Amino acid sequence: MSSLDVQMPHAKSGNWFRSGETTGASGDTRSQMRRFKLSTMDKVGNRLNKLQAHLGSESELLVAPNNTSAVAVEATPGSIWNGVPQAPPDPILGVSEAFKADKDGSKMNLGVGAYRTEEGKPLVLNSVRAAERQMVADMSLNKEYLGIGGNPNFCKLSRELILGADCAAVREGRVSTVQSLSGTGALRIAAEFLGTFYKGAAVYLPNPTWGNHKKIFPNGGVAVKSYRYYNPATRGLDFQGLCEDLCAAPAGSIILLHACAHNPTGVDPTHEQWAEILKVVKAKQLLPLFDSAYQGFASGDLDRDAQAVRMFVNAGLEVIICQSYAKNMGLYGERIGALSFVVADAGVAKKVYSQMQQVIRPMYSNPPMHGAAIVERILSNKENYEAWKLEVKGMADRIISMRTALHSALQKLGTPGNWDHILNQIGMFTFTGLNSAQVTNMTKKHHVYMTQDGRISMAGVTAAKAQYLAAAIDDSVRNC
Ligand SMILES: Cc1ncc(COP(=O)(O)O)c(C=O)c1O
Repeated sequence: MSSLDVQMPHAKSGNWFRSGETTGASGDTRSQMRRFKLSTMDKVGNRLNKLQAHLGSESELLVAPNNTSAVAVEATPGSIWNGVPQAPPDPILGVSEAFKADKDGSKMNLGVGAYRTEEGKPLVLNSVRAAERQMVADMSLNKEYLGIGGNPNFCKLSRELILGADCAAVREGRVSTVQSLSGTGALRIAAEFLGTFYKGAAVYLPNPTWGNHKKIFPNGGVAVKSYRYYNPATRGLDFQGLCEDLCAAPAGSIILLHACAHNPTGVDPTHEQWAEILKVVKAKQLLPLFDSAYQGFASGDLDRDAQAVRMFVNAGLEVIICQSYAKNMGLYGERIGALSFVVADAGVAKKVYSQMQQVIRPMYSNPPMHGAAIVERILSNKENYEAWKLEVKGMADRIISMRTALHSALQKLGTPGNWDHILNQIGMFTFTGLNSAQVTNMTKKHHVYMTQDGRISMAGVTAAKAQYLAAAIDDSVRNC
């Protein structure tokens, strides 16, 4: 080996370039890159020379000390990545890590939004098991690559699930759908598409919102702003603030709306309020982007939970929809979801589809097939579909019954404050209103794990633990 040909991370962009290669960067950036390159080269040279010593003296000198690349041999061994800072734990998944490490027998994990049975165990739906059995027995299935946009029948069934099979936009071929890596993947493709073809528009997120929204959109090239949503004083919707902020947003702005079961607050607009929001969106020519991660979890009824989305689409608006099957089919780890663009005409829909493929291809080439095949078997087979609908209702009902159990346990304890929001909030989460010190007490003293904003997943509460949880809340409210 006579020349060193090492790939190095570009100092600013994180892209890789070869040593000695010019990058066309500005003087400042170039000198930064050179500094980075030299110190990194030192370490690489040091390691290669150690390797050479290990191999024996006949082997060619891999990197000459003091050569033109200014490689100086350092005495201390190190990693190329020594300078990489430690990232903070994810605010939600980090809670699960802390929960796992806790050895206390009474611990509860109410941080992550995942359904649990009455025994506190994860649930694989019977309809999912049935679909998987049918798949195993189906010898016509193979493991070939899916197309870039995923399983086409899955895509068709997904848009029909959210929009209704009788939706005019669906019938007229005005809906482009691609399979995605669950809801997060749908949002990420949408973000990159918008960053490319809808340049300059910011996305307005409700305050508060699911934390990942704030990271996904900038990564796709879309700036993030917020609109008022939750009123801590009423523990309900700040409807006036919401309307004012949407009215003040520049025309063309993207408005992210949680289709139902708002995360983290559990506060949804009423039907009448949705109609008002639609009026504002239309009048101000805003672009609605619906995040539908909980269809079926709010009311137990799949159609009812799709009402807001359908209202906007049936009013003739162009709409973007991100769907997830993580919660309503319990397919968390299968990473299965869909992204749909509802557009004004079928020709545009085709072009949009082609560009969604352009986003996907260099990112992960094409999506995995297993989750899509499960969803396809459930949505296209009457027996599986009916069984699934009952199971969704069962999950939603159990969550609602846990709201009642927790509320009445707090009433019995006479816990200071009004806890009616536990009954009124919708879907998987309750925004308890506990402050940061109270949340810390919940975790440190009572081993109840929850996000620092005071959100608890009602899906993680069981009848057996409702009293324990109420007592922990009572103690935290009274003493912190
Ligand atoms: C509002 C919202 N959107 C999207 C998602 C995406 O979830 P997943 O990628 O698991 O489908 C979640 C998950 O918690 C969520 O709460």
